[in-house]
Amino acid sequence: MRIDVLTLFPRMFEGVFAESILKRAQERGLVSVRLVDIRDYSEDRHRTVDDRPYGGGPGMVLKPEPVFKAVESIPAAPGEVVRRILLTPQGKRFDQAYARDLAAADHLVLVCGHYEGFDERIREGLSLEEVSIGDFVLTGGEIPAMLVVDAVVRLVSGVLGDAESAEFESFSRGQLDHPHYTRPPEFRGMRVPDILLSGNHEEIRRWREEQSATRTLARRPDLLVDGEGAAGMRSAECEMRNCGRGSRAVFSSEFRVPSSELEEWGSSPPPDRQSQAGARMRDPGQGEPR
Ligand code: ADE
Repeated sequence: MRIDVLTLFPRMFEGVFAESILKRAQERGLVSVRLVDIRDYSEDRHRTVDDRPYGGGPGMVLKPEPVFKAVESIPAAPGEVVRRILLTPQGKRFDQAYARDLAAADHLVLVCGHYEGFDERIREGLSLEEVSIGDFVLTGGEIPAMLVVDAVVRLVSGVLGDAESAEFESFSRGQLDHPHYTRPPEFRGMRVPDILLSGNHEEIRRWREEQSATRTLARRPDLLVDGEGAAGMRSAECEMRNCGRGSRAVFSSEFRVPSSELEEWGSSPPPDRQSQAGARMRDPGQGEPR
């Protein structure tokens, strides 16, 4: 995969791209990353890239000319799938499914906005996908671009070894990951669950699946609204009704949601159910669960 990052601050990326899995992916020729300094495409000897906003107001606006020239300078190989992306808080929310989708491309071009904003014609004229990493505003698109590159590159075929496989991690099946433990078997009074020491692979698989389901239900019931996460819950016999705030989730399974986990996240199982094998969750003040 080829990745071109267009930015006013190429040096911000140097450390991130020179470490760990991103470094290894480049060394192994699976990914090649190029940092393009938008300032190199400015049209005057002062290397101007921004100007005051028409209509007044605070701050500076990124000019269209250097961004158009920088984007247009990037060659696309014949037949390759190129995704051109503008990082902006007004974009489509980035998530694991989006990362998977981008990982199938041959070439990513990431354009980082900066300063108070960028000229609207960059949006209009360059046919860029607009991507946001969340409902908050950063000082620029650089950190979002690093985040997108990191999430995508690890999904590129061959980048993760078998031992690091992305198949079972959080969000890979629309659910959160199960807990992990390593040695020692007991640490400061906290024991590794016996089942993980049992050597019974089928039981361990089941336990992990159940942990993944309970965690998702307790912490991120919103993930279960869409088909992918909800399908994964079937094995744990989970039935969700109208998730989200003011909603109710009914959960019946052979295991119990740890009440500490539920309380931590603002929902608690009714007292009559806390010590039983099945667990039910509901929003406080919502009456009896159906
Ligand atoms: N630039 C500034 N804030 C951003 C965000 N939340 N997502 C993407 N790009 C941004």
